Amino acid sequence: MSDRLAKQFIRSSVIYALLGMALGILMAASKDHSQMPTHAHLMLFGWVGMTLYAAVYKLWPMAASGRLPFVHAVVAHIALIGLVLGLYLIYGGLSEAGEPIASIASTILTANMALFAWIVWKGTR
Ligand code: HEM
Ligand code: HEM
Repeated sequence: MSDRLAKQFIRSSVIYALLGMALGILMAASKDHSQMPTHAHLMLFGWVGMTLYAAVYKLWPMAASGRLPFVHAVVAHIALIGLVLGLYLIYGGLSEAGEPIASIASTILTANMALFAWIVWKGTR
């Protein structure tokens, strides 16, 4: 289970990295940096954060036992996609549609980080 979790996190993280960099190149090429927060969150949570999740499950396989790490993984992707979509809409001038999405996603993301904190504390005893 720990290997499967680590593998899906590292494989997803490189996809998020490519998407975030493509957005960065579009921003640079168009000289319109208004999507900077979208790019920043996609890079730092999608690429850096997901890579850290992979590293944790690889380094502490005990943390990956049980059903909770699977729940954490599914929710992490949903929350990231929601946050990025919400930010994209907000900074693209569609705040009314983007704000509720970003606010729900960021609440879920924070709750999911609390779940991850529990998983880490329990799995590194
Ligand atoms: C293809 C590669 C990349 C391109 C073309 C690119 C492009 C950009 C651009 C145009 C900005 C806006 C700068 C500004 O207006 O001040 C930016 C900001 C940012 N980028 Fe990238 N980026 C790339 C890769 C990365 C990577 C690998 C990371 C992190 C792992 C990253 C993280 C950030 C962050 C955090 C900001 C916001 C900085 C701030 O708050 O001032 N970017 N990037
Ligand atoms: C609960 C989830 C989160 C919320 C609601 C949130 C919200 C925000 C907001 C409102 C900004 C200011 C954007 C601006 O006006 O420039 C910001 C900036 C930033 N956030 Fe987050 N964030 C969250 C999670 C994260 C995570 C998990 C990371 C990194 C792993 C991160 C990294 C950054 C960085 C580097 C900036 C500065 C770049 C910029 O200004 O665009 N955030 N965040």
